[in-house]
Amino acid sequence: MTMEEHLRMPALRSRVMTAEEAAACIEDGMTVGISGFTRAGDAKVVPMALADRAKALGRPFHINLWTGASVAEEVDRTLTEAGVVARRLPFQSESTMRDAINRGDVMYVDQHLSLTVEMIREGTLGHLDVAVIEVVAITEDGYLVPSTSVGNAPTFAAHADKIILEWNKRQSPLLEGIHDIYMPHARPNRAPIPILSVDSRIGTPYIPVDPKKIVAIVPTDREDHFVELAPPDADTERIAGHLMDFLSHELKRGRLPSPLPPLQSGVGSVANAVLAGMKDTRFDGLVMYSEVLQDAVFELMDAGKLRYASGCAITVAPHNAKRIMNNLQAYQSRMVLRPQEISNHPEVIRRLGVIAMNTALEVDIYGNVNSTHVLGTHIMNGIGGSGDFARNALLSIFMTKSTAKGGRISSIVPMVSHVDHTEHDVDVVVTEQGIADLRGLAPRERVSRIIEHCAHPMYREMLWDYVKIAAKYGGHTPHALEQAFAWHLRYRDVGDMRQDVT
Ligand code: COA
Repeated sequence: MTMEEHLRMPALRSRVMTAEEAAACIEDGMTVGISGFTRAGDAKVVPMALADRAKALGRPFHINLWTGASVAEEVDRTLTEAGVVARRLPFQSESTMRDAINRGDVMYVDQHLSLTVEMIREGTLGHLDVAVIEVVAITEDGYLVPSTSVGNAPTFAAHADKIILEWNKRQSPLLEGIHDIYMPHARPNRAPIPILSVDSRIGTPYIPVDPKKIVAIVPTDREDHFVELAPPDADTERIAGHLMDFLSHELKRGRLPSPLPPLQSGVGSVANAVLAGMKDTRFDGLVMYSEVLQDAVFELMDAGKLRYASGCAITVAPHNAKRIMNNLQAYQSRMVLRPQEISNHPEVIRRLGVIAMNTALEVDIYGNVNSTHVLGTHIMNGIGGSGDFARNALLSIFMTKSTAKGGRISSIVPMVSHVDHTEHDVDVVVTEQGIADLRGLAPRERVSRIIEHCAHPMYREMLWDYVKIAAKYGGHTPHALEQAFAWHLRYRDVGDMRQDVT
């Protein structure tokens, strides 16, 4: 396709320039909102040019960086290595950025992903100077057609003083039409969001903007930098198996309707493997109201199991990306990409009755979940959308392998070292050992379910020893506070949670 077919507003064509020229619009101290969600549709070349510019200046140069969720290495890593990022929100998953946050060099605000834009609208996060957004096209009216994600781009475009566009010629033009952009009205007189089913389309296929704010258009052909997920292994297959048995059982007892209510699936290898496990079940006519559409979504569509998927980004492994993107016409009519405040909107999730399947780092004997902090202090990625879904779901499921680091860490612990999802937001816990249905149980009743069904056998006796000591102190949720973190301390000090290994 030609430039005329992609950049359909003639007046804007004079604003085509290089990434270096566009990056010069960003000044020290500014707040910059870039498109991108789980490495999909992120602005790439302008942030990289900005890092080069900052390095060449030879003096401190800082920005506050806002995104939709995680962005590719070349963005987070390059900017971090150049020392450019002072403050980062609302989610990241890149190792250099993670280290900088854990050193205290970058101030990281780990937010529920549906909430960032509410805070931008209300001015709580401060002023947004520049938005940098990847697009596949600009309409006749100067409106923006995003690429593989929507994320927070519509709100960034609405609130920034200036907009820089990365026009990505490599992204499939078939993405046009896949998006549904809807921005809720201001509070407190907001109308209900009129999504009545996962396939409701309630907005426009483009992001409306004031074209006068567009100061630069940078052509690029840089691909999304997706990463391979760890393939399913025996443990993830067992987790999937337990979960499928549980859902079948709930259907049989009439506690879930058939077809199943909309599914949400979290990020990462475990979540993807579990969703892929649905391919070999008798569940049909599945639909998703989710956030990231990972590889398993397309596998389920190919297998004729998944009827429709609503999300806010397409993030697939490199070995699948070409096939899926070249074959988008096969999926186009069965999917929609929404702004993340809509894909993750608590009101819609509650009303549609979503089954939420997210991943934990650790779970305690009462059902509290830590998804973000290793040993209670060091950030892994962030809470992402898991809280948006877990708190509002019809059924909130958390999955984890029962151990990590070759068995040296138990994912079932006496007390979680950081809480992302409280016991009130966790209905079901699944590990490769089994499944614990916690619904309707008091804390003391949950203990045996979690230990006997979810903990690894080599940690069960240690957990029961803790329960016995905790019982001496009584309470609705008994704990021996002086020993509650003994396992984490042992791992910190000797590299193993097990008592007999020193
Ligand atoms: N303590 C310390 N490290 C642990 C751990 C624990 N209890 N449990 C797992 N880990 C480590 C693993 O060893 C692995 O480390 P490695 O990268 O060095 O190999 C890493 O955490 C990832 O674990 P893995 O079992 O491979 O799971 P995953 O890829 O599915 O990721 C989360 C799990 C929790 C990190 C990830 O799902 C996440 O960031 N979740 C929060 C955000 C979220 O849920 N978003 C979805 C909303 S829609």
